[in-house]
Amino acid sequence: MTERTDKTRATRRRFLAGAAGVAAAGVTAARADNAKSLAKNLPPNVADWSKSLGEGVGVRAYGTPSKFEKDVQRRTVGWLTATPESSVSFTPLHQLDGIITPNGLCFERHHGGIAEVDPNDYRLMLHGMVDKPLVFTLEDLKRLPRVNRVYFLECAANSGMEWRGAQLNGAQYTHGMVHCVQYTGVPLKLLLEQAGVKPNAKWLMVEGGDAAGMNRSLPLAKALDDCLIAYRMNGEMLRPEQGYPVRLVVPGWEGNLWIKWLRRIKVGDQPWYTREETSKYTDLLEDGKARQFTFVMDAKSVITSPSPQMPVHGKGFMVISGLAWSGRGKVSRVDVSLDGGRNWRTAKIDGPVFDKSCVRFYYEHEWTGEQLLLQSRAMDDSGYVQPSKDALRKIRGVNSIYHNNGIQTWAVKSDGEVENVEVG
Ligand code: CO
Repeated sequence: MTERTDKTRATRRRFLAGAAGVAAAGVTAARADNAKSLAKNLPPNVADWSKSLGEGVGVRAYGTPSKFEKDVQRRTVGWLTATPESSVSFTPLHQLDGIITPNGLCFERHHGGIAEVDPNDYRLMLHGMVDKPLVFTLEDLKRLPRVNRVYFLECAANSGMEWRGAQLNGAQYTHGMVHCVQYTGVPLKLLLEQAGVKPNAKWLMVEGGDAAGMNRSLPLAKALDDCLIAYRMNGEMLRPEQGYPVRLVVPGWEGNLWIKWLRRIKVGDQPWYTREETSKYTDLLEDGKARQFTFVMDAKSVITSPSPQMPVHGKGFMVISGLAWSGRGKVSRVDVSLDGGRNWRTAKIDGPVFDKSCVRFYYEHEWTGEQLLLQSRAMDDSGYVQPSKDALRKIRGVNSIYHNNGIQTWAVKSDGEVENVEVG
């Protein structure tokens, strides 16, 4: 053993002895951090970063996260990726807190790759059953009255790999096809009013400018209710992978409808029965029939920490943290169970609670190393309660891919490791 290692150990022992008086949680956190720390940077020494000038302003014209946060990233699942242009990446839910997803971490789902749209050449065409067909430039849209709204966006296939049993080991993979940002945009109602919708119109066809020409049928009533033509997310212009420069926002409804690189809206009196609402995005039931136009994303929640990618470091105080959302309105309550759904306690919702948005919930627990079967269940202001997976399967069978909002279970083992499981 070298002298330096000896000194490191001695310093660590002293530090821990000095910290013995603080709360148990503090000691646990310090111990976990110290495992990777260099003693020379720890109190009472002056740390390396205090001994010389740091980087100046302007070096990073567009800021990036600390290099120590480089493992906070979107991830893909190999066997779900046939080709990268028609695939999905997942939001690292386990590494985030609060309700807002940073723009660079919002999950991606493309059908024909990311279209690179020159904003000068961008046009939105509005036609069909209208008095006056219109074409908008990006500047036209930006001159119109705008609103700011925080909404979750969930892919209908989120948790779709879990229908037949627990499969993917991580909240990122079981629930990471959801994100929540603040959009700035023009109410779609305004554009429809400008064009003058014919009295017998009932549906819109919304179409993207990507190579897949992604298109869906959208009920006119929803368009007039709360849909947005959005061009900003969290204050800045949309990211290319989120539809730059313009995407459709369809609050509370499945992500597939939120057409990116939006180029065309056609008004009609019936649905178009596009590929994305016939061969895809329908829900196959046990009897061979399929549900169609299941737009609303029902109330759902997931504990993001602890979770398989975020194990527990030692006994003592811990905060169980998670996200909940509902496409029907506001999340009114979230319950947490430590024993696989036998007993439920009400979690604390902290931060803003918006309509059709994510909420953050916390439940505090003093962990003695006992096995936990962690669950959360969301309720919304329509009275809806998130169902267990078995209750959902009784109605829906196991053939579906889409709309799996069953209660998730994480098993916390005595060593703090966490696993995706199901309880009978
Ligand atoms: Co659906």
